[in-house]
Amino acid sequence: MATNEQLIGRSDVNDIEAILSVTNTDVDATVHAVRDNAEAIFTWDYEKGARPKLSRLYEKAKTSMWNGETDLPWDTEVDQESVVMANAAATGGFAQGMDVTGTPFASWTDAEWLRLGIESQNWTLSQFMHGEQGALVCTAKIVESVPWIDAKYYASTQVMDEARHVEVFSKYLDTKLSGHYPINAHLRMLLDDIIADSRWDMTYLGMQIMVEGLALAAFGFIHSFTTEPLLKQLLKYVMADEARHVAFGVLSLQEFYEQLSTAEIRERQEFASEAAVRMRDRFLQQEVWERMGVPVKEIVPLVMQAPDRAAFQSMLFAKIVPNCKKLGLLDAADGWLRERFTELGVIAFESWADTGEEYEAFALAQGDKRSA
Ligand SMILES: [Fe+2]
Ligand SMILES: [Fe+2]
Repeated sequence: MATNEQLIGRSDVNDIEAILSVTNTDVDATVHAVRDNAEAIFTWDYEKGARPKLSRLYEKAKTSMWNGETDLPWDTEVDQESVVMANAAATGGFAQGMDVTGTPFASWTDAEWLRLGIESQNWTLSQFMHGEQGALVCTAKIVESVPWIDAKYYASTQVMDEARHVEVFSKYLDTKLSGHYPINAHLRMLLDDIIADSRWDMTYLGMQIMVEGLALAAFGFIHSFTTEPLLKQLLKYVMADEARHVAFGVLSLQEFYEQLSTAEIRERQEFASEAAVRMRDRFLQQEVWERMGVPVKEIVPLVMQAPDRAAFQSMLFAKIVPNCKKLGLLDAADGWLRERFTELGVIAFESWADTGEEYEAFALAQGDKRSA
């Protein structure tokens, strides 16, 4: 039975010292290579529609493509300072419900809080962009490694979707915001682990269920409050795609998991748990605190304990937990994953809607697209 030490390299999930010791050391490198350990699988069974739900998803994807250059209002003027102020007002202020008395924040002026908001936005959108590239690479791997023709067909449409997502987040950062951040070390570790695993279903679990499940929730949260019309539109389009991607994961793994042994399911539970911790760690945004010049080890515990922050972090799991439940991962092997999600404070989402069919609700209406 794997321990926390083996799964995430530390025995206490909340060991701040250990979390912060993981940093990205090759920030100036232009490429990062990971061995992907998988076999490329051909299938000679070309029967289209043998898996009707995947086939339906593929047909849906074909008619849901959009063009990142022409369907979004790139001529929108974005005043990042005003956007950041409006975001802070909508989400309860920069301090997010923290009592700053006696902390390094106590002496901060309005200008410093504003800079934090701007850096946080640059960081957040940068991590979305890097995560999208992770999805691009993972989905290309699924095209190669999955043995089912309906899944290869569908995954090929997702490759195109992810290219578009990388493209639009990159363009938004370059033309509307004020700086990039390198990939967060915890996010990179997670993407490396997903890509390095030789088993095709682990790519789905890591990417479609965990990373994209979190992305769908995070994009939805930002979409709900941002008043910046270009970003709002961009997120709406990306979410319409992401809801299909998460459905692709749920529908594929549901069938595959039915024939796995308890021991094999347990490995999937452990993988899901490791991914959940890595994603929680990444949202501590240690690189932002470093750039702001504040003592990171002092700040991170404050941030972790802030009530609004805790609510935000747990909301990120609103899709992951019900999807893991639908896949039978929560309660298999004596409820091991249920216990882990309880420790992370996210188990309350188990009865929320799963994403197996939810993509219909996220679909863009006819006429949404400028070029339609
Ligand atoms: Fe994406
Ligand atoms: Fe995606």
